[in-house]
Amino acid sequence: MKRIAIFASGSGTNAEAIARYFEGNTEIEVTCVLSNRANAGVHQRMQAFGIPTYTYAKEVWSEAHPIVEVLQKHNIDLVVLAGFMRKIEQPLTTAYAGRIVNIHPSLLPLHGGPGMYGHHVHEAVLADGDTESGITIHYVDEQIDGGEIIFQAKCEVLPDDTPDTLANRIHVLEHRHFPQVIEGVLQG
Ligand code: GAR
Repeated sequence: MKRIAIFASGSGTNAEAIARYFEGNTEIEVTCVLSNRANAGVHQRMQAFGIPTYTYAKEVWSEAHPIVEVLQKHNIDLVVLAGFMRKIEQPLTTAYAGRIVNIHPSLLPLHGGPGMYGHHVHEAVLADGDTESGITIHYVDEQIDGGEIIFQAKCEVLPDDTPDTLANRIHVLEHRHFPQVIEGVLQG
């Protein structure tokens, strides 16, 4: 059995799509969800799947080695960042090098880096007048949004889009592709 830990800070629609995709799978399971926010929607979404969720304070995330211990205790093979709004620090990046993937709601390297997350990304896409956007799934290294790209998918940006309508279109792409890309990574 390959074991996934999801890190999530927000609503958790991607975590839910991943949990649903692997539900009943005999080779891959979502073992747990780790969050930095006790009131994030992801906690409630995971209840329906019986997946335990844990919240850690920001000091724990900055130190990171307690997180490595949790992952090792659960025999985690792959860490999946699904709307996780904190930088991944050492020694986590080294302990899980090549085994952490992130989803970003733009076509990296466009609209990535510090401060670029969630609606900020969609606002930047609209402000720049881009005619297309999309999603990027990539490995996580020391640089924010800088790791090797695994997969990208595009969608159009419409003239009357708002950050919300664009975010909805991006979410559809994310839910369709992220679980399958994770499966592909785990199957090598
Ligand atoms: C997703 O669109 C994800 O790409 C984005 O946050 C959203 C989380 O939605 N991640 C980032 O911006 C990371 N830089 P969700 O909580 O409904 O899955």
